[in-house]
Amino acid sequence: MDFMQTVVEFLLIYLPPMVANGSPVVISKIIKTHPIDMGKSWKDGRRILGEGKSIEGAIGGILAGWITASIIGYAYGALQTLSITGLVSSFGAMCGDIIKSFFKRRLGFERGKMLPIADQLDFYLGATLAIYLCRNCVRPGIEVFILGLLLIPFLHIFTNKIAYKLKLKNVPW
Ligand code: CTP
Ligand code: MG
Repeated sequence: MDFMQTVVEFLLIYLPPMVANGSPVVISKIIKTHPIDMGKSWKDGRRILGEGKSIEGAIGGILAGWITASIIGYAYGALQTLSITGLVSSFGAMCGDIIKSFFKRRLGFERGKMLPIADQLDFYLGATLAIYLCRNCVRPGIEVFILGLLLIPFLHIFTNKIAYKLKLKNVPW
C-alpha cells in the first residue's frame, strides 16, 4: 500500500473522531454545560472527572463526528459503513477522553493541567479500540494506525494553538 493511500485511509477513518474530540471546547463556549460527574467527588476527595467533562460536550462531540463521517461517507460513496464507523469511533474518542480525565484526577492533575501523551492520544486510542470492537466498522490497517500515532501529537499542538488564538481555550494545549 502506498503512502498516499495510507493518508487517505487515515483521513476517512480518523477525521470524524478528530472532529468529535475538538467539538466539546466549541460547544462549551456556545451553550451552558453540565458536568458528567454532576459535581461529585471520588473517595480521594477530588472530582470524579472534573468540570471539563460535560454531558453536552460528549454528546455534541459524538454527533459532530457522526455528521462528519456521514458527509465523508456520502462523498466517498460508502455512506453506510463510514457513517457507522464514524459514530462508533466518535463514541470511543469521547470515552477515551473521559477515562483519561478520570485517571488524571486520581493522579492529582487539576482540570486543564497538561498530562503529556495521554492528553494527545486519549481520543485516538479510544476511537481505535471502539472501531476494533465493532464488527461492521471499517478498520484501519496497522500502517494507518502508526501514521496517526506519529501525526496526532503534532496536529494536537497545532489545533490547540489555533483554539487558544481564537480564545476557545484558556491555555495553548
Ligand atoms: N469539554 C466538554 N465536555 C467534554 C470534553 C471537553 O465540555 N466531554 C470542554 C470543556 O470546556 C473543556 C474543554 O472542552 O475544558 C477542553 O477539553 P479537554 O482539554 O479535554 O478538557 P480539560 O479542561 O483539559 O480537562 P481535563 O484535565 O480533564 O482533560
Ligand atoms: Mg485539556
